[in-house]
Amino acid sequence: MGPWPNDPLGPQARASADVYWIMFVCAIIVLVLVDGGLIYSGLKFRDRPGHIAKQFHGHNFLELLWTVVPTIMVISFSVLSFQKLNAMNDMSNAGMTMDVQGQQWTWLFNYPKEDRFKLADGTYLQGAEELHIPVNTKVHINLSSKDVIHSFWVPNIGGKKDAVPGRHTDLWIQADQPGTYKGQCFEFCGTGHADMLITLVVHTPDDFAKWTQGALAEANRLNDPATKKGRETFLSLPCTGCHTVQGTTAGGKVGPDLSHVASKKSIAAGAVSPVNEQTLTSWIKNPPAVKPGTQMPNYGLSDEQVHDIVQWLLTLK
Ligand code: CUA
Repeated sequence: MGPWPNDPLGPQARASADVYWIMFVCAIIVLVLVDGGLIYSGLKFRDRPGHIAKQFHGHNFLELLWTVVPTIMVISFSVLSFQKLNAMNDMSNAGMTMDVQGQQWTWLFNYPKEDRFKLADGTYLQGAEELHIPVNTKVHINLSSKDVIHSFWVPNIGGKKDAVPGRHTDLWIQADQPGTYKGQCFEFCGTGHADMLITLVVHTPDDFAKWTQGALAEANRLNDPATKKGRETFLSLPCTGCHTVQGTTAGGKVGPDLSHVASKKSIAAGAVSPVNEQTLTSWIKNPPAVKPGTQMPNYGLSDEQVHDIVQWLLTLK
């Protein structure tokens, strides 16, 4: 994927690229004419043996020319930009509408409150960091921010818009072809700004339906009432500072990733093997007793807390 002006892959980016290239070519022509004239005059009229430089004032034709031409150019650029802006800001006929919220330093993607995105507990599908949409579909994005100003931009798709706290802004995006597109928060929003990325995944309609099914199953598993308590206990404890569990707010990078812990043959470098209810329980209850020197401390959790957490961990396959 090239830089967006060379490689616009959606109607928004194409509209921007059209204006970009027209202005760029005009700017080059102006640069050549002005600097060319300057260099030519400097050489031709300079003071030199056999030629005396003269001071003179006023040249009606030239002054008219360099007033009228730029005026026409600036007005033309304005008309061109406003024409494109009308289409870029037209939210009608969207195939899908989503609420997207920026926060320090991630994006939250709320899929439409439609049956196809409904979870077992009655809520609707949410995602973070990765946004999945169908190809050739106008997706209206209702943007908001939880804290400071962010800006949503996937360059090759176009349609950059600020997410402003306390109000909603609108944009729409549409992609010509399936694939994965990289985006980035485009407003400096604090120390994590550079990491506030967007991965836009564009699917064919069939693939999008398949992805939705998988995402719903995954979310239902994470939200299962039977293991909800354990998940909430885990997420409320310091566990999240070290461990990552995909699909949750646990994003620690110090300890092992627990996203599929229940599928592993052993953990804690073999000290916990096999991974089952009994071994996990004694491990979490008192880690240093199972593996001396481990960095995981004994948090003195109650039997009930350990039980709930283990029940949840066992679903992470
Ligand atoms: Cu959010 Cu920069």
